[in-house]
Amino acid sequence: MTRPFFVGGNWKLNPTSLSAAKSLVEALNKAELDPATEVVIGVPAIYLIPIQEIASNGIQVAAENAYYKESGAFTGEISPKQIADAGIPYVILGHSERRTIFNETSEVVALKTRHALDAGLKVILCIGETLKEREEGRTAAVCEEQLSAAVKQLKEEDWSKIVIAYEPVWAIGTGKVATTSQAQETHVDVRKYLATAVSPAVATATRVIYGGSVTAANSKDLAGQQDIDGFLVGGASLKPEFVNIINARK
Ligand code: G3H
Repeated sequence: MTRPFFVGGNWKLNPTSLSAAKSLVEALNKAELDPATEVVIGVPAIYLIPIQEIASNGIQVAAENAYYKESGAFTGEISPKQIADAGIPYVILGHSERRTIFNETSEVVALKTRHALDAGLKVILCIGETLKEREEGRTAAVCEEQLSAAVKQLKEEDWSKIVIAYEPVWAIGTGKVATTSQAQETHVDVRKYLATAVSPAVATATRVIYGGSVTAANSKDLAGQQDIDGFLVGGASLKPEFVNIINARK
């Protein structure tokens, strides 16, 4: 089965001005992008609406987080319903920075995923192991534990709205990219788990993308792996080379 290639940019807490954010999107608007690649950029909450308003060239926008309530006394949070109402189609959930710095458990990430889907959003669901966990041979088990919380919250049909981003924590922002075989093997393990825990059809159809120090230089080899369906790109999504990453399969 052919899974459409997917490249997400995750700006994280960057840039620090609306004009710089607009410049990043304007460059993508003008770029020659592979029409076969689905392109989504994760944008800080304060820039979501103005960036959504100017994004063209097939570029979609994602929130980088959302709460699991629609409204109420939750100071500082943004709800999936508000994101959907603004016309934003995607949200990134469970990024390792949310898990480690903001103490989000797999159960909280799963609840957020459930509510985001209920509000009509699509979800980029991030999973991945630390260096210690990899060295202990626990990569597959950690990914399974993180996914199993979501499996408990989701129905089979929900998975068509999910893109799984496998991001080894040790590769994020470190310049240490996983080897093509490390990434491919983990993606296969993720698919094996989905086949058992959800269904073989979901395992085959769900896109599993890789994140962690992806650059223009390493993206082609990674994109050539059978089970790598795209990327979630941090640092390089703020640079002109993001266009080459989007076009990695071209
Ligand atoms: O969400 C993106 C990942 O955290 C990867 O970040 O490309 O800067 O390593 P990076």
